[in-house]
Amino acid sequence: MSPFQLTRTLPEDATDAALRSDVRHGLTRSPRTLPPKWFYDAHGSELFERITELPEYYPTRAEREILLARADEIAAASGARTLVELGSGSSEKTRHLLDALTGLHTYVPVDVSGSALTRAGRAIAAERPGLRVHALIADFTSSLTLPDSPGPRLVAFLGGTVGNLLPDERAGFLASVRGLLAPGDALLLGTDLVKDEEVLVRAYDDATGVTAAFNKNVLTVINRELGGDFDPDAFEHVAVWDADREWIEMRLRSRTAQTVKIPGVGLVVDFAEGEELRTEVSAKFREEGVRAELAAAGFELTRWWTDGADRFALSLSVAREE
Ligand code: SAH
Ligand code: TRP
Repeated sequence: MSPFQLTRTLPEDATDAALRSDVRHGLTRSPRTLPPKWFYDAHGSELFERITELPEYYPTRAEREILLARADEIAAASGARTLVELGSGSSEKTRHLLDALTGLHTYVPVDVSGSALTRAGRAIAAERPGLRVHALIADFTSSLTLPDSPGPRLVAFLGGTVGNLLPDERAGFLASVRGLLAPGDALLLGTDLVKDEEVLVRAYDDATGVTAAFNKNVLTVINRELGGDFDPDAFEHVAVWDADREWIEMRLRSRTAQTVKIPGVGLVVDFAEGEELRTEVSAKFREEGVRAELAAAGFELTRWWTDGADRFALSLSVAREE
């Protein structure tokens, strides 16, 4: 068994304070919103794993196909000795990359979900003697401090999770990732691509309702952490394609006029019948847009790979000299 270390960069009470602040701000503005990171308690992370296996949810399979085909090229181009993975979740697909990165010294999975992170990190450390695994419970949208480890570094951000950030958040986030790297280090980015509306909507509104349960889980998290009295069944899961902004928007629509109490933040929230609460966006990309956003953050996109059906892209970029 190789070394496994877990660091919580945010104390639990800071996480509670962040949740309270997000709920207070998000539920008192119009339209109401909640940031997506609160989906992922232990149950939410399990539901997400079930989403990745749904027939309608193509991104995981498409990205795995690309990773399997390109892992050796990624390993050769990056020569990484440290792999940092943001929003690593179960680290399932990452195993293909770990297999190919023969010179790897340290793997740093980073996630807000302590349960998913601990499970995946321990399993990988047990499977791979000689690899140091240093898991970080942290929010990748705030400033990260990485453990000391040898370069070159490769940062992987898979699953299309970059699309869950709003465009202005994305710009700041990519610049902060650049700040973690030295010139010549690399970024491996998974981006879902613009495609037929029907295919997109089905991926976020599956027939068996797993995605609906995942979306509603954020209400359960608020009930548990802040003493709220949300009735998840009183909300309907909605996924809509915004053709102008090229993103899928996930919402929870109040089925009736209702009042929800959240004593942990001293809020009483009135929902009108049909009122919608935005819980997540999932932006879909085009090559030129990804290239431009990366360039603005100090990266040069050097490789662009898609799956056989052109549904999803994986790109490799190099951190430029400052
Ligand atoms: N990389 C995996 C999981 C993607 S789901 C895959 O491709 O299948 C998104 C992951 O990012 C979840 O594990 C979630 O807990 C994590 N996450 C979401 N917002 C986060 C944030 N702000 N900081 C850190 N992790 C976050
Ligand atoms: N990163 C995933 C995506 O945008 C997250 C996700 C998948 C998701 N299905 C969802 C978020 C349903 C909210 C609801 O594809």
